[in-house]
Amino acid sequence: MIGLQQQIKESADYIRQFGQQAPVTGIILGSGLGNLAKEIDNPKEIPYGDIPHFPVSTVEGHHGKLILGTIKGKPVVAMAGRFHYYEGFSMQMVTFPVRVMKELGISTLLVSNAAGGMNAAFNVGDLMIITDHINLQPEHPLRGKNENTLGPRFPDMSEPYAKTLVAKAKSIAAQNNIPVHTGVYVGVQGPTFETRAEYKFMHIIGGDAVGMSTVPEVIVAAHAGLRVFAMSVITDLGIREEENTITHQEVLEAANAAEPKLTLIFRELIAQL
Ligand code: HPA
Repeated sequence: MIGLQQQIKESADYIRQFGQQAPVTGIILGSGLGNLAKEIDNPKEIPYGDIPHFPVSTVEGHHGKLILGTIKGKPVVAMAGRFHYYEGFSMQMVTFPVRVMKELGISTLLVSNAAGGMNAAFNVGDLMIITDHINLQPEHPLRGKNENTLGPRFPDMSEPYAKTLVAKAKSIAAQNNIPVHTGVYVGVQGPTFETRAEYKFMHIIGGDAVGMSTVPEVIVAAHAGLRVFAMSVITDLGIREEENTITHQEVLEAANAAEPKLTLIFRELIAQL
């Protein structure tokens, strides 16, 4: 078994053959939110299956490729499709691409996801800029021997989502008449959606939205010293009076419908980085 650092290096070396310039921004696109990838100029697409040591995602709505290119002239690397813990991957696998993107040269990571709303002010299709998170996932991506060259043993988590980027995104949204909420994202394992009691609990402990991704990648980004910006599309409401069930199809449809707003904010943010 070769070590994590060697694997990161081999993945990055493979990917570098396809890019003309080192990416400065990494992007992880959530379920039903892959369209930003279409705005990448001069795209070079690399299927995950071709990249040494990369996991391959299994979820419907995830394309599973890395895309190198530029957005508004800025070199980016985007993940169309991400890896979830509930698929059976270890947390090291879920977060491996963040390590590789860091090795490729990124200093900022942008993340999108589909999430269930718990804040009573939220509606399906709303956007929420993530300002903080609560980690309820059952395994930690930094558990185990720490690689000091990758980051510190005990990383600070006082500002995992860069305030400067939150402020920039809010002003981009305002200039474009796009309403946005800010709030706390709760990361859970899935793959079940939550029970009514669980949504209520997560709201009581301080959550505004809940989802099955993002937190592991953001922890590893914090460990690696990356600046992070993340945004949720609210695809369903966990707290509501009437009888309701939640389906994956409904989540994907709501994500697709809200996507243009999210894509605009990401694009303009990248232009300002
Ligand atoms: N719960 C967990 N994950 C989700 C949800 C939800 O309600 N919606 C989209 N992803």
